[in-house]
Amino acid sequence: MCALQQAPLFAISGFAVDQGAVVLTGLILAPEGDADAVRVDAAPGIAFEFDYPLPNPHAAEVYWYWPNAAASAFRIRISLADSTHVGPAFRFRVSFRGRGDDAVECLRTTILLPKDLGAMQTFPGSPALRRVHTYNTIGNVVCHGYSDAHRIVEIAHGHGFDPATGKVLDWGCGHGRVTRYLRMLGANGPLHGIDIDHQNVEWAQRHLADITFADGPLMPPTRYRAGQFDLIFGISVMTHLAVEVQRTWLEELRRILKPGGLALLTFTGDSAVAFSSRFLDRAWLDEYKTTGRGPDSPNSDLSGIVSDPAYYRNVKQTAAVAAEVCREQFSVEAIHPCMFGYQDLLVLRSPRRPRRRAPSA
Ligand SMILES: C[S@@+](CC[C@H](N)C(=O)[O-])C[C@H]1O[C@@H](n2cnc3c(N)ncnc32)[C@H](O)[C@@H]1O
Repeated sequence: MCALQQAPLFAISGFAVDQGAVVLTGLILAPEGDADAVRVDAAPGIAFEFDYPLPNPHAAEVYWYWPNAAASAFRIRISLADSTHVGPAFRFRVSFRGRGDDAVECLRTTILLPKDLGAMQTFPGSPALRRVHTYNTIGNVVCHGYSDAHRIVEIAHGHGFDPATGKVLDWGCGHGRVTRYLRMLGANGPLHGIDIDHQNVEWAQRHLADITFADGPLMPPTRYRAGQFDLIFGISVMTHLAVEVQRTWLEELRRILKPGGLALLTFTGDSAVAFSSRFLDRAWLDEYKTTGRGPDSPNSDLSGIVSDPAYYRNVKQTAAVAAEVCREQFSVEAIHPCMFGYQDLLVLRSPRRPRRRAPSA
């Protein structure tokens, strides 16, 4: 299984406010299980304690293949009274000795904890909340959503997107878990969100006034006119669509993107398979390893919400296989494994010139 997930990894599982401190908890799988290879840095002015490694019996079950997973929990305790840090968020960076320090690796391992917690904790109740993101606490949803929004802006910017003016679509936006933070992270152009979950769309329309939300169809086309978006991102949307459905949506995303526009899409590949391996049988894993795809399974999260009960699925494909499908419509500019939780990110560019139609006979 280590052959599938080789990179060390960290994940946040919760945060809480406790007696003048903010406490972040989660797990870090250290390289080869060596806790000394891990360090955590914070922006100047943040007074914090880092406790690691702590016991983590649950992780030992899930990450059975990772050395010392039973001692992989961490706790970061930020003292509010002693912190002089100014700015909207506490920023931490987990790094691993001997691993690259490039901008992408930094983004992958950066945690941003927004300080304006009161303003950021408006969400629909469960199960609408849970359909979007499995969570332990609302704090977890906030922390992940804010950090994911930061990653989207930074990565898109790195590929030439101008946050000051660019028009953005969050495809499969849910209740705006990520989109809601884009403005405060410098995205000042028009922001749109679309989803097939009409309950969450309706909630988002009522609560997130500076974003335009719309109900979307299960299958294209959308109502958006051609060539209007500079950036479309879809976090954990393709991961729920059968490959043939992915194909039709890739064509639609290309249609509504400007020529040369950017699509950032996540897929569930090796890290996600490694993470869920204890639920997968040998035949499933063999097929995944041989073909780069595992058999899909139905996902009932949207039952009663969408008309076709077979539409929403759990789909796993390696980044290489996902890239092959995407190349039918886009050029693939980058693949970032394990960038959003356990999901891989593909950075796609729509053709700069419209495709020529084949001459009719
Ligand atoms: C796992 S949730 C992720 C939501 C959101 N992207 C986030 O990261 O918080 C997947 C979302 O994709 C939506 N979805 C699935 N297929 C879709 C489609 N064809 N068009 C728009 N939304 C879709 C689902 O309704 C759900 O809200």
